[in-house]
Amino acid sequence: MSERVVLAYSGGLDTSVAIGWIAKETGKEVVAVAVDVGQDGEDLEVIRERALACGAVEAYVADARDEFADQYCLPALRADALYQGVYPLVSALSRPVIVKHLVAAARLHGADTVAHGCTGKGNDQVRFEVGIGALAPDLKCIAPVRDYAMTRDMAIEFAEERNLPIDVTKKSPYSIDQNVWGRAVETGFLEDIWNGPIEDVYEYTDDPTLGRPGDEVIITFEKGAPVAIDGRHVTMLEAIEELNRRAGAAGVGRMDIVEDRLVGIKSREVYEAPGALTLIRAHKELVSVTVEKDMARFAGGVSQRWAELVYDGLWFSPLREALDGFLDVMNQQVSGDIRLNLQGGSAIVTGRRSQQSLYDFNLATYDTGDTFDQSMAKGFIELWGLPTKLAAQRDQANG
Ligand code: ARG
Repeated sequence: MSERVVLAYSGGLDTSVAIGWIAKETGKEVVAVAVDVGQDGEDLEVIRERALACGAVEAYVADARDEFADQYCLPALRADALYQGVYPLVSALSRPVIVKHLVAAARLHGADTVAHGCTGKGNDQVRFEVGIGALAPDLKCIAPVRDYAMTRDMAIEFAEERNLPIDVTKKSPYSIDQNVWGRAVETGFLEDIWNGPIEDVYEYTDDPTLGRPGDEVIITFEKGAPVAIDGRHVTMLEAIEELNRRAGAAGVGRMDIVEDRLVGIKSREVYEAPGALTLIRAHKELVSVTVEKDMARFAGGVSQRWAELVYDGLWFSPLREALDGFLDVMNQQVSGDIRLNLQGGSAIVTGRRSQQSLYDFNLATYDTGDTFDQSMAKGFIELWGLPTKLAAQRDQANG
């Protein structure tokens, strides 16, 4: 029997206490793994040392920033994925990449169990455990907060008793999860859904009412992926980071929603995702210009389903792969430039150009040069409306 547990470690109170707690409950050694998905904040080396000081036998930080941007954020962008039409799946996208690194660590260190710090009420426990089950069905999962009823007060008591190097007073009034794709904030006074978020809640975005001048940006896409900003080549990670800065300064990308969790609860969450929302806005626009009508309409349903699957913890599902097949075909055409103005909380598209454009000036124009034969419209309308007309005639005849 294996003597080790791999813990998804964040450096916060709960997962720090979980190291000793898991050891006490299972008698096993704990390997702490922190995954860098661009969450910034505290120095990850400090976090690593804290894990060791809290009793982990091994601790390391996996740099997954480019992997997360290229293999998780980019597919989400190519799908224009927004859960409930609003939320760009910030936390939902990061769980599968974290899961990959946890499984790799479990194999490396011969662990038979993976642990995470989620409660029993949220989506993330589902995403972790379904993901582990998909990649390593032989591994067991435990969640000390949920399975060993490790409450916050007990965690503080445990930390104080054992003199763990955690500042238990440094607790933020909110529960926050953040990565390069965005930031999610909940609990505290936000649990009253009538309370408006105060400026203090936000970190990635400045107050959109500051009255700053507009920032014009040109994003170049190749096959659905951003490859340049204002003519300078960028990786996916660099594109998100630059737009987080620039759109964030314009207050773009704030959301405040009541969402349907997988476990049935409606919960209020405040998000900010300036880079993600600017990229999705631009990508959607380029889809409008370059993708044929029926495929573009169908893509709306694919977007929604894709977002629901990923939200619901089914990243590693056959259906997500199949939908990505459709999105691959669609994005073959999605190349070109989109110009936006970032100002006052909005990213407004002001121009588009593309070699793949289906916009035909001569068909669209109302000026001279019009090549659209208007005489064709009359017959088209007659046939198009025929079924409706027949039904109306029948209803009229029957009174
Ligand atoms: N509601 C979001 C989701 O389920 C974010 C979850 C984490 N939020 C947080 N503030 N800790 O994907």
